[in-house]
Amino acid sequence: MVTDNNPASQGGQDGPADATGALSQRLRHDMVCAMELFTVYLGERLGLYRALAAGGPATSAELAERTGTAERYVREWLEHHAASGLLEVDAVAAGPQARRYQLPPAHVPVLADPDDVRYQAFNGVEIVRAGRGLPQLVEAFRTGGAPPAPPWAPEGRADYNRPVFLNLLGTHWLPAIAEVDRRLRAEPPARVADLACGTGWSSIAMARAYPLVRVDGFDLDADVIAAARRNGEQAGVSGRVTFAVTDASGPGWSGRYDLVTIFEGLHDMSRPADALGTARGMLRQSGSVIIADELVEDEFTAPASELERYHYGWSVLTCLPAVMGDPRTSATGAVMRPATLRRYAREAGFASVEVLPLETETWRFYRLTPLPCGSASWRPGAAWLARCCSRRRGWSARCARPATRRPRFSSAAWPRRTPGIRRS
Ligand SMILES: C[S@@+](CC[C@H](N)C(=O)[O-])C[C@H]1O[C@@H](n2cnc3c(N)ncnc32)[C@H](O)[C@@H]1O
Repeated sequence: MVTDNNPASQGGQDGPADATGALSQRLRHDMVCAMELFTVYLGERLGLYRALAAGGPATSAELAERTGTAERYVREWLEHHAASGLLEVDAVAAGPQARRYQLPPAHVPVLADPDDVRYQAFNGVEIVRAGRGLPQLVEAFRTGGAPPAPPWAPEGRADYNRPVFLNLLGTHWLPAIAEVDRRLRAEPPARVADLACGTGWSSIAMARAYPLVRVDGFDLDADVIAAARRNGEQAGVSGRVTFAVTDASGPGWSGRYDLVTIFEGLHDMSRPADALGTARGMLRQSGSVIIADELVEDEFTAPASELERYHYGWSVLTCLPAVMGDPRTSATGAVMRPATLRRYAREAGFASVEVLPLETETWRFYRLTPLPCGSASWRPGAAWLARCCSRRRGWSARCARPATRRPRFSSAAWPRRTPGIRRS
């Protein structure tokens, strides 16, 4: 369980005794934290962390020289970062321009190494991108519609899941699902559809880990697919990985896949049950659907853990607003509880939803298993039946068979939470 570090709920020795004072102090503390993230944005965007990591300790003039920035600005940033414990300074008593600042070795993975699973400097970028849309979000709260999508420029999208995909997906997570791992290693080469693939790192990671597989990544967003194509080419997997702009909830899907994945994307879809119907319809015999989504509580709780508050924060700021423009939206938000996912899966024609015993800090992994359309034990819901039969001509006869009872859903033990990956 993530610890609750909410100062308002703690009666600290030096903290205020009354609730009003505690809340006042909490918001001041939050302000310090928010500004710290904005300064992390500056460090990430201007390459200040990378320059300190690569070039070693520096005075403000040296760091400005290394990064092509203005000394006076850099000096203020360095002093802030040293005062905040993000950097170390050699001689506090030295003159402002004589002090040398360094990135402590333990901070390098978090602030300067985007390949490390502990890298967190993207948080500065994410919070700035989220903040840009707040005036429009105020208006969206009034109208009930969706604010415009955040502009791609100047940062692009932070590749926040890149290190966990490259370090864990094909080497720890998928290998832990024995049947899936076996299929991905076997001949004939398995085909994988990676829905809501974002900038493509999950697709690339799967292709790298499994040299036989062919992966097709799909995402609604043309900018991220353009970035995914660039990433695929640079990673040297473009011969086995394709990317296409496609709505996972929309019509017109073709192709058969041994594995369909949706990593931290289902709750971002306006019609997740339709997308699961797509996934269901794409599966080959014995194919699997693997979903990773936010590790949220089973039920609404208040006050809640820091992790739950984190997911709610993104939900209010970006995940829910992004899906509110669709008149048929399910309006899920980032806090998609397991029961909600089971409902979507049932509507899409899946027979069971298994929570996989994978240990991650912020995600829960699910495996969805369909019953064959013609199974005597299950009758699909009308919406799914219509989709299934209209899209898959060959399925109609099997889909239309009568059934006698609803599917049953199973749930394995919750994964233990260990440090290692960020949200989504
Ligand atoms: C939080 S991002 C995750 C991206 C990627 N899976 C990752 O982990 O880096 C969610 C993605 O879902 C995509 N998305 C939302 N609705 C979609 C839909 N209906 N079809 C395809 N992609 C969709 C968004 O464009 C976005 O790239």
